[in-house]
Amino acid sequence: MSLLLAGRFEPVEREAWCTELRRALPDETLTVWQPGLPAGLRVAVDVAVVANPPPGSLQGLPKLRLVQSLWAGVERLLADPELPAAVPLARMVDPAMSEAMAETALWAVLSLHRCWFERLDAQPRGQWAPHSPQRRADEVVIGVLGLGELGRTVALRLQANGYRVLAWSRRAKVLEGVETLHGDTGCDALLAQAEIVINLLPLTPLTRDFFCARTFARMRPGASLVNLARGAHVVDEDLLAALDRGVLHRAVLDVFRTEPLPPGHPFWRHPRVTVLPHVAAQTDPRTAAAVVADNVHALRAGRPLRHLVDRGAGY
Ligand code: NAP
Ligand code: GLV
Repeated sequence: MSLLLAGRFEPVEREAWCTELRRALPDETLTVWQPGLPAGLRVAVDVAVVANPPPGSLQGLPKLRLVQSLWAGVERLLADPELPAAVPLARMVDPAMSEAMAETALWAVLSLHRCWFERLDAQPRGQWAPHSPQRRADEVVIGVLGLGELGRTVALRLQANGYRVLAWSRRAKVLEGVETLHGDTGCDALLAQAEIVINLLPLTPLTRDFFCARTFARMRPGASLVNLARGAHVVDEDLLAALDRGVLHRAVLDVFRTEPLPPGHPFWRHPRVTVLPHVAAQTDPRTAAAVVADNVHALRAGRPLRHLVDRGAGY
């Protein structure tokens, strides 16, 4: 089978993907896309393995049978006019990525619950300020929006650490130890109770701009937002207004409408915003290559493909 790797990679990243994909799929042919790739190579491609594929890279592939994304979130791919409409699209689902996301979420929750951000802010001022009372984890309610591959691992990790966890999804779900909610009333209940809201929704037409003034007004006063999903879930101006008016306490943001976050953006300097450079859970070629290989083997054997995107739902 012939694989085409198409993405905007740093050279060292490209090298890592080539090494790991060749290790995981020693019997297949791997070609790295580049402008002017000969037509003879393009016509043979069965599987495109993509991460932000450059313009033109998904065109002229008449035998293509699978587009395998190296990203979990596929909103950019779905918006790409060059994405072939009739070819199945699979996204990255890797337990190692879920694990990394759970670590990031736990760090953010512990930092907010135990006031570590305030402690770190106090150090450069030489301020010894043991003011806030210590609370137990079971006194803190966490809301997780999105109960998919990542949300589920995050919810369970926080629950195992003693937090009371509410989680919201589109369809009804059951998850032991977690209070699961769905629908508009479920969302209202979560927002009204959660002291820390973690966003792990996919970016779709229904979830874009979800965190706007109207949502902030439905949140528990003084709650904090941890956005680990996509920047376009948040209306930046509304978030800044909610923080400045004291409606929200703090925001931990890993993702932004424009990445890298532009140097002049107010988030950089806001005293109650923590900026991370989209590192909550990166795709690791060492484990993700096996996920790609699994689907390539399925395609070869005529077995059902895994982690297919529902294009109608947008995730
Ligand atoms: P997933 O498995 O597809 O799960 C999505 C969850 O969101 C599902 O529970 C789904 O409900 C729910 N959902 C979707 N639309 C909804 C709506 N309109 N209302 C309520 N719930 C809705 O996705 P995932 O693998 O967990 O990834 C989530 C997102 O994380 C990705 O799309 C990506 O944007 C982001 N991400 C960020 C990083 C990072 O480093 N910051 C890394 C990886 C991924 P159902 O269960 O009912 O379908
Ligand atoms: C990262 O943000 C991903 O979607 O994999």
